[in-house]
Amino acid sequence: MTRTPLAFLSGLALLAVPSLGHCADGAKIYMLQCKTCHQAKSTLMGPSLTGASGRKIASLADFNYSNALKAKTGVWTDAQLDAFLASPAKFAPGNRMPAALPRAPDRAAVIAYIKTLK
Ligand code: HEC
Repeated sequence: MTRTPLAFLSGLALLAVPSLGHCADGAKIYMLQCKTCHQAKSTLMGPSLTGASGRKIASLADFNYSNALKAKTGVWTDAQLDAFLASPAKFAPGNRMPAALPRAPDRAAVIAYIKTLK
């Protein structure tokens, strides 16, 4: 009987771990780590990501992109987005985005979320 509280607590700990570190929620990550700069409409902080998936890289007329990003050719495929978000500085040296997502599951979740921005 005296062990019941401990068993209860360790059960709680097991439940808490996945929600703390292992569950990549794209909408939540976007809200916390992207939305300051990426609103529905482009701002001085960043271009709009509405429709970004499949769009030509650095192609919005209402945002003043760096030459580094404008020099990239092609469209934002999942692979391009993954490479950019893993390390913007490696993807396009000299570009102006200061944020990155080092964890692959976080990138996959955010890329899936970006596709819902239409
Ligand atoms: C502090 C501001 C800031 C944050 C935070 C930020 N970005 Fe950016 N992002 C930018 C800027 C500025 C650019 C344009 C960079 C350039 O022109 O060199 C950009 C460009 C992009 C582009 C290319 C858009 C296009 O039209 O080609 C994508 C995709 C993108 N960001 C995704 C993200 C995601 C996903 C996150 C969250 C993990 C994020 N960004 C967080 C500022 C930010």
